[in-house]
Amino acid sequence: MKLTDEIKQMLDENIVYLATSTRNGEPNVVPIGSAYAISDNEILIHDMMFVKTRANLEANPRVAISFTDTKRWESYQLKGSAKIFTEGDIFEKVLEIMKIKEGRRQKDHMETISNPKVKERVQRMMELHKSMRPKAAVLIAVEEVYSNMPEM
Ligand SMILES: Cc1cc2nc3c(=O)[nH]c(=O)nc-3n(C[C@H](O)[C@H](O)[C@H](O)COP(=O)(O)O)c2cc1C
Repeated sequence: MKLTDEIKQMLDENIVYLATSTRNGEPNVVPIGSAYAISDNEILIHDMMFVKTRANLEANPRVAISFTDTKRWESYQLKGSAKIFTEGDIFEKVLEIMKIKEGRRQKDHMETISNPKVKERVQRMMELHKSMRPKAAVLIAVEEVYSNMPEM
């Protein structure tokens, strides 16, 4: 099943959860803000802070992603295989996507915060994020797409 335009948009707009596991099946799940669909069956994310996730991806490429869009009342699980790129076109692409998402996030998000203390903390986090460089691009070939919503 392919990624619809709506799923692509929800991946871009939401924090998604990436599940990986060791070769022996020990699971690990982390929140991801960088997911971006680059085709009907491929998702790109950046590895900026992965530790267990990176070790798991190197040992076992099978992954699952789950996310919920609370505004739309939509929720999905995707399954597939990941490949890691530390240079080349795919790596350059992740840098490009990061800049687009960062600019937009900064504008959209800051407008919604009224508490000055929270605003300052978020601003600091955004500056820190901007100064970091991804260690790798992770390309996920999506093979299965499931809705988490009950049949209506
Ligand atoms: C909201 C949010 C979004 C995140 N997005 C990313 C991301 O896009 N890329 C990344 O490398 N780490 C991201 N992280 C950090 C990871 O979730 C996680 O902390 C990191 O991979 C270390 O955990 P691990 O040792 O289990 O891999 C994000 C964290 C949060 C809280």
